[in-house]
Amino acid sequence: MVNNRRGFLERAGFGLAGVPLLRGAAAPPDWRTRKQRFNMSGFAAPKLDKVRLGIIGLGHRGPSHLRTLLRIEGIEVRALCDLRPERVEAARKMLDGTPHKPQLYSGSADEWKRMCEQPDLDLVYITTPYYMHSDMAVFAMEHGKHAASEVPIAATMEQCWNVVLTAERTRKHCMMLENYAYGAFQVLTLNMARRGFFGDVVHGECAYNTSKMANNFAKNGYWDMWWLKLYASKRGNIYPTHGLGSVAQIMNINRGDRFDYLVSMECNDFMMAARARELAATDDFFKPCADKQYRGNVNTSIIRTVKGRTIMVQHDATSPRGPHSVIHAITGTKALAQEYPLPPRISKDLSGWVSEKDYQDLVKEYTPAITTHMSEMARRIGAGHGGTDLLEDWHLIDCLRNGLPLDQDVYDAAAWSSIVPLSEWSVLNRSNSIEIPDFTAAAWRTNAPNMDINLSRGGATTKVLV
Ligand SMILES: NC(=O)c1ccc[n+]([C@@H]2O[C@H](COP(=O)([O-])OP(=O)(O)OC[C@H]3O[C@@H](n4cnc5c(N)ncnc54)[C@H](O)[C@@H]3O)[C@@H](O)[C@H]2O)c1
Repeated sequence: MVNNRRGFLERAGFGLAGVPLLRGAAAPPDWRTRKQRFNMSGFAAPKLDKVRLGIIGLGHRGPSHLRTLLRIEGIEVRALCDLRPERVEAARKMLDGTPHKPQLYSGSADEWKRMCEQPDLDLVYITTPYYMHSDMAVFAMEHGKHAASEVPIAATMEQCWNVVLTAERTRKHCMMLENYAYGAFQVLTLNMARRGFFGDVVHGECAYNTSKMANNFAKNGYWDMWWLKLYASKRGNIYPTHGLGSVAQIMNINRGDRFDYLVSMECNDFMMAARARELAATDDFFKPCADKQYRGNVNTSIIRTVKGRTIMVQHDATSPRGPHSVIHAITGTKALAQEYPLPPRISKDLSGWVSEKDYQDLVKEYTPAITTHMSEMARRIGAGHGGTDLLEDWHLIDCLRNGLPLDQDVYDAAAWSSIVPLSEWSVLNRSNSIEIPDFTAAAWRTNAPNMDINLSRGGATTKVLV
């Protein structure tokens, strides 16, 4: 089924106070006839000796990046911005005793624009609620900065197109910081896929299945209860990229294959409204949440690629599950790999999973340089998300300093994030299928793989300060 844009846009807005309606952006181009203005896949910007950066959004994720970035050689923190002055002050305090003396921006919802206008910045980190990411990335690029945005980079199709078209026009990097794509098993299996271990990869399964019930209802958790408001106003997979990014890289999406269409289905909400009513019974703060309809508890989407492969991508953030899971199952014509439920396993034939010894031999043979180069340092500084946060920040800075292409480009950011609005459309339309546009304007046919997991392009010169 073809995307009925008007109906879709009307439904894609966020209906609750505090979460803006995301309408009125420039109309997306007709992607079938679009001519690429400039191919950002494989794009390398001129080398930067120092990377002068600013961060917008200093809630949870912004300070976490700041802590990691402070361990990376060759950066200067030149600007910090948050709506809330106390968050800016807390982040500034982290710089006490360091040479970093950033300009501070806070107090109004538009201060981030002033920050992006600051002339001595090369890179803007964007770590605000995700429906703000695209506007901030576009503005940063228009003001001559590279943009690095947290996940997802977009909540609507217009936002997906806005980052693509702006990056092509301004020739600025726009990377979505998909840290899970740097997981040891993720890059191991990416290397195995590239070296033919799986044969043809025919199917992938991925997810972000981890309970966020406590976080979403915590009064002093996320700014303005923004996640809760999203759950109360959206349908579909509202957080697809953690699992999907790595599977898309393994399938060479946007470079040899591309997403074609998806179907999405979700169960009803059996937990969130009940929890909201329970809290509202004793606490007036939760009264406005009590009569809302929440997103279904488990969303399951299936993507088909133009080369006929399939990807199952799931999101469950409400079940009382202990174990976290991104699944990360890769099915090939010659072998299969699966990370969750832990431990990670590999199978090559009908005899079952390979033995622990054979598994370790495979890890030794296929672990790429990026993991070995960084894992000891990540362990020593206690980097977040199993070291992936250090890997992604370090490699971004190292690539910018060496004038190398980045691991994830703007087409990846748009394609992976487009699952947010497209899965919503499918859920609202009895799981009918919907096309996923080609953000690359047919360049996917010739684009080369771009995540340099073997550090072959001569970078890896930036030190980590342990
Ligand atoms: N990659 C990961 O593992 C990971 C982990 C956590 C969060 N995230 C992503 O990071 C982003 C931020 O999440 P979080 O948990 O830090 O949320 P948060 O609510 O803790 O922080 C958001 C911050 O943005 C600020 N803000 C809101 N409006 C602003 C504006 N107009 N100008 C400047 N600042 C503004 C808020 O004051 C708040 O401090 C989200 O997109 C989320 O999806 C990614």
